[in-house]
Amino acid sequence: MHLSFRLSHHFLGVLPLLATCIQAECTRQALLAAAENYVAAQIKGTVDLSSLPAPANVAYKENNADKDIKSGVLAQPLKVEYHRSTADTVACASYTELVATTPKPYVIGTQILHNATDMSVTLIDTIAATTGALRFDAAKTLQYFQGESWPALAASAQPSRELLRQTIDAYLDMWTNATAIDAIPWGTPCERVEGAAHVTPCTSGAPRGGSKTPNSMRRYVIDEVFGSANVLCSFTAIGNIPDSHEVRIEGGKVRYVHTITLSSMPK
Ligand SMILES: *[C@@H]1O[C@H](CO)[C@@H](O)[C@H](O)[C@H]1NC(C)=O
Ligand SMILES: *[C@@H]1O[C@H](CO)[C@@H](O)[C@H](O)[C@H]1NC(C)=O
Repeated sequence: MHLSFRLSHHFLGVLPLLATCIQAECTRQALLAAAENYVAAQIKGTVDLSSLPAPANVAYKENNADKDIKSGVLAQPLKVEYHRSTADTVACASYTELVATTPKPYVIGTQILHNATDMSVTLIDTIAATTGALRFDAAKTLQYFQGESWPALAASAQPSRELLRQTIDAYLDMWTNATAIDAIPWGTPCERVEGAAHVTPCTSGAPRGGSKTPNSMRRYVIDEVFGSANVLCSFTAIGNIPDSHEVRIEGGKVRYVHTITLSSMPK
């Protein structure tokens, strides 16, 4: 990378080349390594994020509210029994879903945003569901997640970024748009893990409009390799409710849907 920069910097084309060079540092490997370090930090519960690397005062959102990370869920050690991460090299961000049943049950969805120049973390954005959240039972959710298979997809089987983005948006639009359901490439089989509820087919219970308030504050992590589109949002269609939705697309069709939803905005 630095070699190609040196060779080319005499030419007028230097700026696009430099931009490409910088972009190239945000790799899947680096994003997924940082996500692993985040999980290790959650297990320790000491809010030491130097390995991510993140500054001690890194911007932090928990359940859609700005918060001091030292008073957040990362400050308590959790026995993480399941975790799975995806990487978005365009947004330079990752998404990690994790489940702990002890010492306190949690199902957590976290996006980690990086500065694409130096890979330092600029935001940790967490939806943390515990007892009282919508259909919450971490032990059951853990069982369902462990029964699934989310391998990396062969290049020929990977959905496009556009399909992933359109599908997760159509999914979140179903509450306000009566025909959004028809824009989703539902698979057979398709399984939805909604809190601790296991629903199949995924169209079962899917809304056809009805609400006037679109789901808002959508933040995306899209990973073609794992066929995953994740959005953290406010589920404003039914209230001001912190939420994470993720779809997995295999062979062009939705295979899994995961939702982590609080039951109301926490105080
Ligand atoms: C990203 O990191 C570079 C290098 O450390 C720095 O110059 C730049 O200001 C950072 N960008 C943002 C948006 O923080
Ligand atoms: C509703 O969803 C359909 C299918 O995605 C789309 O074509 C249409 O533009 C949407 N309508 C509105 C008002 O957003």
